[in-house]
Amino acid sequence: MTLDRGSIVIRPLAGDDNRASFVCGKEPLDRYFREQATQDVRRGIASVFVAVAPPEPARVLGFFTLSAATVAPIDLPSEVARRLPRHPVPAALIGRLAVDRSFARRGLGDIMLADAIAKARMASETIAIAVIVVDPIDEAARDFYLAFGFRSLNGPQRRLFLVPPRRQPA
Ligand SMILES: CC(C)(COP(=O)(O)OP(=O)(O)OC[C@H]1O[C@@H](n2cnc3c(N)ncnc32)[C@H](O)[C@@H]1OP(=O)(O)O)[C@@H](O)C(=O)NCCC(=O)NCCS
Repeated sequence: MTLDRGSIVIRPLAGDDNRASFVCGKEPLDRYFREQATQDVRRGIASVFVAVAPPEPARVLGFFTLSAATVAPIDLPSEVARRLPRHPVPAALIGRLAVDRSFARRGLGDIMLADAIAKARMASETIAIAVIVVDPIDEAARDFYLAFGFRSLNGPQRRLFLVPPRRQPA
């Protein structure tokens, strides 16, 4: 299927989006999107965004979630932790991100990840965010995030982090 990158729109999940037809190939993510995403939005657990494109504006090509989180500075590399207090610092969590498999490897994952980071940065104008974190579901997902500049936390945990570009105080 062709993907016109310029026509992609990323917007909040809507009630009439076709969630059942979305298949990324990772069952836990497909199930989450089918069965839990709208509930998470309703309960304030996650904001869910979808990527769509005309001529099928209700067909979901990809989705991602954003939530507030915290990170313990001890889990961050010393050159990052050095600038931070010792108590847990505020973070934005990209909890899930997936592309429908018929649109895989055409740049949509990149576009959505850049958009998620931009949204986190925009939110940080109002509520401070020290780092952005992601939980890759497997090694391929980990490689995807590492290619984007995410880095490992200390220890064996799978969570990765990125320090967003700093805003300058007025
Ligand atoms: C991981 C995923 C989101 C990537 O989306 P995508 O649209 O296919 O990725 P892109 O086309 O934007 O790829 C961007 C870059 O990421 C890296 N990348 C993407 N998929 C990769 C994979 N399976 N293995 C290794 N690197 C990968 C590559 O560097 C790629 O650039 P290239 O194509 O020029 O080599 C998508 O494959 C997916 O939804 N997978 C199933 C769900 C999942 O694993 N989600 C991860 C978060 S939990």
